[in-house]
Amino acid sequence: MKIESYIRDIQDFPKKEILFKDITPLLNDPIATKNTVSVLVESLKGQKIDKVVGAESRGFFFGILLAQELNAGFVPVRKPKKLPYDTISATYELEYGTDSLEMHTDAIKKGDRVLIHDDVLATGGTAKAVCELVAKLGGVIVQCNFLMELTFLNGREKIKEHPIFAAITY
Ligand code: PRP
Ligand code: MG
Repeated sequence: MKIESYIRDIQDFPKKEILFKDITPLLNDPIATKNTVSVLVESLKGQKIDKVVGAESRGFFFGILLAQELNAGFVPVRKPKKLPYDTISATYELEYGTDSLEMHTDAIKKGDRVLIHDDVLATGGTAKAVCELVAKLGGVIVQCNFLMELTFLNGREKIKEHPIFAAITY
């Protein structure tokens, strides 16, 4: 099975000149989804994972499936003011301005072995902010994994101190 064949290109979404990689055809197919989870899990080569951290919102889809497959807990990282309990936050840069992400303070215990997951590694701003949140709570980042890496944006440079895996690279 080629995961690529379940990813649909949408030209000029969300704005002109952007070629959007739509993963909904993949999510729509249960076998392709299961196979994708297997590819992501195999990249860990049996390393133990305590927590899978997924970034809102597209990191939630496979993040929860990965957590279940790895017998790990799932931790949502969310956009500001969405989480109800005590939070820590990390700021990252957008094309114009900045944004931030939040995580509950009790989501990760010191020494927890953490897998960070998101659908896309683009400029790396999101992944870097998630790494910062995990590090603040003393989590050990085992790997940052992605369905897709847009290599021409060089996002891996921002998180180069961690192992990185992407199921597909463009
Ligand atoms: C997209 C994508 C990644 C991030 C990658 O999320 O799902 O999370 O951008 O970009 P970066 O590497 O340049 O940070 P977005 O913020 O659009 O939100 P969404 O997941 O809620 O659609
Ligand atoms: Mg996202």
